[in-house]
Amino acid sequence: MHPKALLFVLAACYQSVISVNTGNGTQKDFSPLLLVSFDGFRADYLNSYTFPHLHKFFSDGVLVDQVTNVFITKTFPNHYSLATGLYAESHGILASHMYDPLTKKDFTLHNDSDPFWWNEATPIWVSVQESGYKSVAAMWPGTDVMIQNRTPTHFMKYNGKVSFRERLGNVTKWLSEDDSVKFAALYWEEPDYTGHTYGPDNTTEMAKALKKVDDDVGLLMEQLNQTGLWGKINVIITSDHGMVQCSQGRLIQLDQCVNRSSYIVVDLTPVAAIIPLIEPSDLYKKLSNCNTHMKAYMKDAIPDRLHYKNNERIQPIILVADEGWTIVQQGGLPRLGDHGYDNSLRSMHPFLAAHGPAFRKGYRKESINSVDLYPLMCHILGIPEKPNNGSFAHTRCMLVTEKCTDLAVVVGIVIGVFIVLTTITFLFRLMKNREPSSSRPFARLELQEDDDDDPLLD
Ligand SMILES: *[C@@H]1O[C@H](CO)[C@@H](O)[C@H](O)[C@H]1NC(C)=O
Ligand SMILES: *[C@@H]1O[C@H](CO)[C@@H](O)[C@H](O)[C@H]1NC(C)=O
Ligand SMILES: *[C@@H]1O[C@H](CO)[C@@H](O)[C@H](O)[C@H]1NC(C)=O
Ligand SMILES: *[C@@H]1O[C@H](CO)[C@@H](O)[C@H](O)[C@H]1NC(C)=O
Ligand SMILES: *[C@@H]1O[C@H](CO)[C@@H](O)[C@H](O)[C@H]1NC(C)=O
Ligand SMILES: *[C@@H]1O[C@H](CO)[C@@H](O)[C@H](O)[C@H]1NC(C)=O
Ligand SMILES: *[C@@H]1O[C@H](CO)[C@@H](O)[C@H](O)[C@H]1NC(C)=O
Ligand SMILES: [Zn+2]
Repeated sequence: MHPKALLFVLAACYQSVISVNTGNGTQKDFSPLLLVSFDGFRADYLNSYTFPHLHKFFSDGVLVDQVTNVFITKTFPNHYSLATGLYAESHGILASHMYDPLTKKDFTLHNDSDPFWWNEATPIWVSVQESGYKSVAAMWPGTDVMIQNRTPTHFMKYNGKVSFRERLGNVTKWLSEDDSVKFAALYWEEPDYTGHTYGPDNTTEMAKALKKVDDDVGLLMEQLNQTGLWGKINVIITSDHGMVQCSQGRLIQLDQCVNRSSYIVVDLTPVAAIIPLIEPSDLYKKLSNCNTHMKAYMKDAIPDRLHYKNNERIQPIILVADEGWTIVQQGGLPRLGDHGYDNSLRSMHPFLAAHGPAFRKGYRKESINSVDLYPLMCHILGIPEKPNNGSFAHTRCMLVTEKCTDLAVVVGIVIGVFIVLTTITFLFRLMKNREPSSSRPFARLELQEDDDDDPLLD
């Protein structure tokens, strides 16, 4: 092959591959979206156990191996981040137990229905209604609370005793009976409950719990299929956080370091929220020196990367235990497994899978941030985003309407084409050199032409 031609082919090839990158991102398919959370589904469970139903779900859709969630890696803060695209400091649901110093109100998981705690943000189920559609929910944290003066159109009051089957049944009923329902949220407590009770390292118990979770995914696909929704609606299955093994040997007892009369505990482990009753710097010093596996921060010094500082509900001193360590005041280990630790730890990350007309088929992505899910969902639903901390650019390639090519694939194709063309050129020249005395009329002419161009090849 002519060397100039080789360069031309390479350039053309590179250009054509690059050009598909700049797509028109207009989304026209506003199919309903069902968002499902299986609490405490650590990302790497996918590698250690078998999930035939979940595998079927994402092999025909999208799988994201790791979702970098928000600090603190607890259930309520992360479910609200998924629904708002905001870090905890910006949406106001900062922990399982909170205290507001201005109003002197308390928040606990069993007394969470005061709108005051939730109104610093607007969750997607409210935005969907503001856009003129209906939203429904089955026990997703916050969906039974009046937020911005609304609950979802249909919802179930939180009750941990209600089975997955019943929650799913109600959601599919609401979705299939009414076209104007555009968003549904479904929450289930497993495998979080088993992870806390037996510890994630108990593979016998985890295998049992994860088999049930996978069966529930199978039930979900079956029910959507039966109601004619499968393949027509978009479904996202994800989780709030992971889980790590705790141990009696990794216990931090505050009573060994500070007098209980010198502080109030708002939340305890693995991230403690502390209100000092003595000189804060004195208390801070004692807590800092308490245990090498626990870091103490004055509120102002909490690392920026945690996005856990700018809110009245964050207490003056925060203690953060190392992975797998437990903070108590005295006594033994409360739970064999826990979460809440630094959100840079892989053990704290969940996964994400998606299926439906909006999503690519067989697409796999290494990681996204959990705050990036919100702008993606708004895009799928065709509703405006509220200000948030995510970026649609990070997740858009999961969508079938977005023309994306992986940079790695582009580079791979270009290198591959280059190798093939170089080899062909080389073989071609070799052949020609082998037949110098050829009687073919044009042989000499070709060789001469090549000689002219030799400098190009040097
Ligand atoms: C994308 O395409 C649609 C229809 O083909 C068109 O109406 C719209 O203006 C385009 N948007 C952009 C940003 O080019
Ligand atoms: C629930 O929280 C509200 C507001 O923080 C408080 O006024 C009320 O007393 C709490 N109820 C219970 C039963 O603790
Ligand atoms: C959910 O569905 C069941 C029937 O399966 C029904 O009895 C129950 O009232 C529903 N719950 C809500 C909150 O609508
Ligand atoms: C897992 O938990 C079960 C039930 O408590 C217990 O019998 C078993 O020994 C545990 N296995 C491991 C490996 O910890
Ligand atoms: C949906 O139902 C049809 C007919 O019963 C079956 O062939 C198909 O495999 C089902 N699909 C899923 C995803 O369950
Ligand atoms: C804790 O502080 C109180 C009040 O300052 C004091 O009476 C008590 O002896 C202290 N306890 C310990 C164990 O130091
Ligand atoms: C997160 O988003 C909110 C709302 O736009 C904004 O106020 C806040 O500054 C953002 N946080 C960061 C770290 O950018
Ligand atoms: Zn939990």
